Amino acid sequence: MPLVTSKEMFEKAYKGGYAIGAFNVNNMEIIQGITEAAKEENAPLILQVSAGARKYANHTYLIKLVEAALIETDLPICLHLDHGDSFELCKSCIDGGFTSVMIDGSHHSFEDNIALTKKVVEYAHERGVTVEGELGRLAGIEDAVNVSAEDASYTRPEEVEEFVSRTGVDSLAIAIGTSHGAYKFKPGQKPQLRFDILEEVEKKLPGFPIVLHGASSVIPEYVETINKFGGKMPDAIGIPEDMLRKAASMAVCKINIDSDLRLAMTAAIREHFAEAPSDFDPRQYLKPARANIKALVKHKLVNVLGCNGKA
Ligand code: G3H
Ligand code: 13P
Ligand code: ZN
Repeated sequence: MPLVTSKEMFEKAYKGGYAIGAFNVNNMEIIQGITEAAKEENAPLILQVSAGARKYANHTYLIKLVEAALIETDLPICLHLDHGDSFELCKSCIDGGFTSVMIDGSHHSFEDNIALTKKVVEYAHERGVTVEGELGRLAGIEDAVNVSAEDASYTRPEEVEEFVSRTGVDSLAIAIGTSHGAYKFKPGQKPQLRFDILEEVEKKLPGFPIVLHGASSVIPEYVETINKFGGKMPDAIGIPEDMLRKAASMAVCKINIDSDLRLAMTAAIREHFAEAPSDFDPRQYLKPARANIKALVKHKLVNVLGCNGKA
C-alpha cells in the first residue's frame, strides 16, 4: 500500500470516536518498534518527522525507512511533517514525498498565521497533500525553542471558524493545557485540560478533526526505571490517560506522542547497561529499546487511542 494522507483516517476516527496515534520518528529502531506494534494491532498510523529529526537522520533515510515499513506492514501510513515553521520547509517535504504537513504559525499574529498557513495549503492541496494548522500556543520545548508557561496561551474558540475557512486547513491543533516534553505540570499541580474549550471548538467546527500536541503521559514506570539506573528526572508529569481517552472520544482525531517514546527507549538502554556494563554492541542495547517502544505503542493504540483494528 502507498503512503496515504490523513483525510480518510480522520473521517473514520471522527465518526468512530477514536484517535490516530501520531508518533515522532528519528531512526530505524523507533520506526520498527512503532510499525511492528501497529501491524499486530491492525491500526492506521501517522509517522511524523520534526525539522530536528530530518536534520539528524536525513530526509532520504527517513523516507526509505518508512517505505520499508509500508512493505513490511501493508498498513495505511501517513508521513507527516511535525511543526513545519516555514513555507520552504513544508514545500521541501511535500516535494520530497510526505503526504501531510503541519505549518505551525502559532507564534505569529492571527493574520500572519492565516497568510502563512493559506500559502502552504494552496501548495499542498494542488499536490494532494493534507495540512494541519495551529491556533493557540503550547508551553514546552519544540525543536530547541522553549515556550515558557507565561508565553503559552489557550486557543480562543471564537477564532477557529475564521481560521479554518480562510486557510482551508484539513485539521487544527489547539492548546487546551497539554505541553511538549516531560515536565507538563508543576510539582504538586493536578493535571488538568480545558475540555470546555475543546467542546466550544467542536461546536464551532462540527465534524472537523482536532489535533492534540504535547500528549505524552510521561509513563511513571519509565521515569522510575531511568532514575533507578542513574537518571535524574524528578517531577516529570504528563497527561493522564483517561483525559486522552476522553479527548479521543470527542473531536480529537490525532494525538501526538514523542516524549513517551524517548522515555521508553532511554529506560531500556539504562537498564541494559546497569546489567551489562561492559557491553559495547549497539544491537544489544537497541534491541530492548525497540521492544520497549513496541510494547508502549501497543498499549497506546489499544488503551488510549482506541484505533486498534481500524486499519
Ligand atoms: O514537538 C516536538 C517534538 O517532540 C519533536 O521534538 O524537535 O526535538 O524532534 P524535536
Ligand atoms: P510530547 O512531548 O508530549 O510527546 O508531544 C509530542 C508532540 O506534540 C510532537 O509534535
Ligand atoms: Zn507538537
